[in-house]
Amino acid sequence: MPHPLEELRDSALREIAETQDESALEALRVRYLGRSGSISVWGEQIKTLSKEERPVVGKLLNESRNAVTAALAETGERLRAQREASALADIDLSLPGTATEIGALHPLTQMLDRAIAIFRRMGFALAEGPDVETEWYCFDALNTAPDHPARNEQDTFFLPDGRLLRTHTSTVQVRTMQSAPPPIRVIAPGAAYRRDEVDATHSAQFHQIEGLYVDDSVTVGDLKGTIEFFLRELLGAKTEIRFRPHFFPFTEPSFEVDVKSKALKSGEKWLELAGCGMVHPAVFEEVNRARGDTAYDPEKYSGFAFGLGMDRLAMILFDIPDIRLFSQNDLRFLRQFA
Ligand code: PHE
Repeated sequence: MPHPLEELRDSALREIAETQDESALEALRVRYLGRSGSISVWGEQIKTLSKEERPVVGKLLNESRNAVTAALAETGERLRAQREASALADIDLSLPGTATEIGALHPLTQMLDRAIAIFRRMGFALAEGPDVETEWYCFDALNTAPDHPARNEQDTFFLPDGRLLRTHTSTVQVRTMQSAPPPIRVIAPGAAYRRDEVDATHSAQFHQIEGLYVDDSVTVGDLKGTIEFFLRELLGAKTEIRFRPHFFPFTEPSFEVDVKSKALKSGEKWLELAGCGMVHPAVFEEVNRARGDTAYDPEKYSGFAFGLGMDRLAMILFDIPDIRLFSQNDLRFLRQFA
């Protein structure tokens, strides 16, 4: 006759072998080997046995415990492996993965990043202003007469409330001076809007980098040196640069800047890139009026300002024939700059 402990052990081993899930297996472990499990209680039972019986049953108890522990571990391992395998069953590892398309910066953004990096090296900080502006920021504060043609509805997008889409980024000159006293050395990249006839070189929305430098002895020489350094850094040391006298209401004297470079596709042609000049005293005076102080005393301070055509610059730099390509989102175009 088998000892009851042997019977317990055998039924434990049989049930363990038949178990199909991990929680049932844990229940078996508790039932047989837990603190009051049916095999464990034999540990107490032994004390009641005779001297002769004790070693025999003790040995049997040890063997049973070891056998059941080993069986629990083995079955546990098998069930865990099964669970993991079935979790992966629906995944076809031989399928090709989903490719993630890597994006790239828009050519105008690349152009802007390059330009900003050069101006930063010269100590210019970034400034900004809104695209929707008042007439005062866009024209009055910039010494632009009420009958100036730019204020015409044919040239400027007006909103029903009388505000407008800024026609140039020079508005940021005024905003910057209004918010801080001199010295000022900022660039302000951004969009501007004009009611132009749209063609390969004109778009209703275009981009400029405005620059403003005000300090106690800024000269035309500083203006010329800054623009020349910038353009040669960007377009190459051999770039030729020309300053042509021009008129802007908010600068005096004023110039337009042209470049020519054999390194560029445009070759021997002069291309107009920027307007610039020395800040007109009337602009300082209007800023003072708005500030309610005399921080921009035209007797004490002078400054230069410029507005660079960014789309134009990017078209030259990347040899792009049509300004409309910048806003058409055609991937065949954009991928060429990735
Ligand atoms: N705002 C002028 C334009 O858009 C350019 C400019 C800026 C001229 C600063 C002089 C000084 O044409």
